[in-house]
Amino acid sequence: MKVLIFFELVLFFVLVSSKIPNGCIPTVREITGLSITCYNANFYNVMEHFRNQELYIVEFDGCNPSIGRLKRIPNVTFYRFEIKNCGIEKIDDDAFADVYETIGMLDLRYNSITNFPNLSHWPVLNSVYLSHNKITKIPANSLPKTRWFTYFHIENNRLTEITPFTFAGVNLRMLALSCNNITYVAPETFQMESLKFLFLSYNNITSLPKGIFDFCPNLLISYLDHNKLSELPPDIFKFTRKLLKLDLSYNNFHKLDTKLIWSLTDLTLLNLEHNYLKKLPKELLYTAISLRSFNAANNNLECIDYDFFKNTFNIYMVVLNNNKLTELPAEVFRSLFKIELIDLKNNSLVTLTSNVFTATSPIDNPKELSPGSMIDNNYRILLHGNPIHCDKNIEWLIPHIDELYDRYDIPYETVSTTSSCVTPEKFAGIPINKIKF
Ligand SMILES: *[C@@H]1O[C@H](CO)[C@@H](O)[C@H](O)[C@H]1NC(C)=O
Ligand SMILES: *[C@@H]1O[C@H](CO)[C@@H](O)[C@H](O)[C@H]1NC(C)=O
Ligand SMILES: *[C@@H]1O[C@H](CO)[C@@H](O)[C@H](O)[C@H]1NC(C)=O
Ligand SMILES: *[C@@H]1O[C@H](CO)[C@@H](O)[C@H](O)[C@H]1NC(C)=O
Ligand SMILES: *[C@@H]1O[C@H](CO)[C@@H](O)[C@H](O)[C@H]1NC(C)=O
Repeated sequence: MKVLIFFELVLFFVLVSSKIPNGCIPTVREITGLSITCYNANFYNVMEHFRNQELYIVEFDGCNPSIGRLKRIPNVTFYRFEIKNCGIEKIDDDAFADVYETIGMLDLRYNSITNFPNLSHWPVLNSVYLSHNKITKIPANSLPKTRWFTYFHIENNRLTEITPFTFAGVNLRMLALSCNNITYVAPETFQMESLKFLFLSYNNITSLPKGIFDFCPNLLISYLDHNKLSELPPDIFKFTRKLLKLDLSYNNFHKLDTKLIWSLTDLTLLNLEHNYLKKLPKELLYTAISLRSFNAANNNLECIDYDFFKNTFNIYMVVLNNNKLTELPAEVFRSLFKIELIDLKNNSLVTLTSNVFTATSPIDNPKELSPGSMIDNNYRILLHGNPIHCDKNIEWLIPHIDELYDRYDIPYETVSTTSSCVTPEKFAGIPINKIKF
């Protein structure tokens, strides 16, 4: 160990004395050799300085002068290349001609790049980060079709559509397209068997074509939130049987297809927050036996069907705040053996009787269930902003009212008005957990 440190120190001084360009800091590791990190340095002078040398990581954060047009980069051998905040606007076709062969990771985030560089022939590329630029288009045949090119980030650009063959033959595991202005995605776009993580959040997608995910059998995460989707083709998730997380929040859904997630028996998270749903199909979660978290906050829900949570034994969190629920059916939460949090804030509930949790009918797994005791006291209920009528019916609730939440998450003023009894008059304004019956 000591020898190693000594070795690194010696190497460090040798290198430092051989003069590292202004603004750059060298790092030396025994295995990878020299890397440099440069802050507001002169990009071409630094690269020229290292011409015909081998570095491991070359990292620029800020460039002085700003690069503008990225011209042919001097022949330096390196493996990771990061040029961030350097004002690159355009990349010349031959910019990387002398350096591309060894680059595994390319990071050009936070520039103003308008044209997509042709990376198709880069032999060892595995990750590309182009987020925060001004790219409007990814031409077909611009990406490597190797097995190791797997991570592609192009969030926060100006893409408006994804053309059919952009990803043809490409084997991505991670594709991040969030925060663009994508309105159209062609049906053949995601024919990538290897795809596991797909981020399409914050775009302008109004509809998705039929079969769009039919060739993504390994998809685990699909974020489609913050778009303008009002419906999805039936069977859209039929072949994505491994899906774990599905986010459809902040869209324009007024209703959902009953069988939307029926093939997703591994699904653990379903987010439907901020849509316009008045009703949830009674059998929506019929096969959602792995679901852990269900969020339908900020919709227009007026009721929940008696059988809605019938098979969701694994849910620990149900979020239904900011809806128009006036009552909940008796026993509606009877299958939620693992529940920890139920958020019902800002609804129109007048009462909540203890039998929302009571099982009366025998359920598939009687061992786990001893009726009456299946719900212990370790779950919390958030009720602020409901016109609660305080009488004996809600006495059972008192230990479950979340005081911690009252104290830390919302201002006291809000709490004192919203988590209090509204009727009868003698209790009006008194916090629910202070009532003595
Ligand atoms: C770049 O430099 C390396 C190492 O000196 C050399 O092997 C390689 O042929 C050069 N490449 C070009 C395109 O000049
Ligand atoms: C990128 O370059 C390859 C060959 O180097 C070529 O076949 C391909 O058509 C190019 N792609 C674009 C979009 O120009
Ligand atoms: C979505 O489209 C609308 C209308 O075409 C436009 O006003 C809005 O800026 C777009 N959103 C984004 C994120 O570009
Ligand atoms: C997004 O795209 C739409 C049409 O494709 C266009 O009208 C709108 O101006 C774009 N918005 C932004 C912020 O670029
Ligand atoms: C409850 O609704 C009110 C009025 O719509 C809103 O101002 C408040 O932020 C909501 N509270 C929560 C916790 O969502």
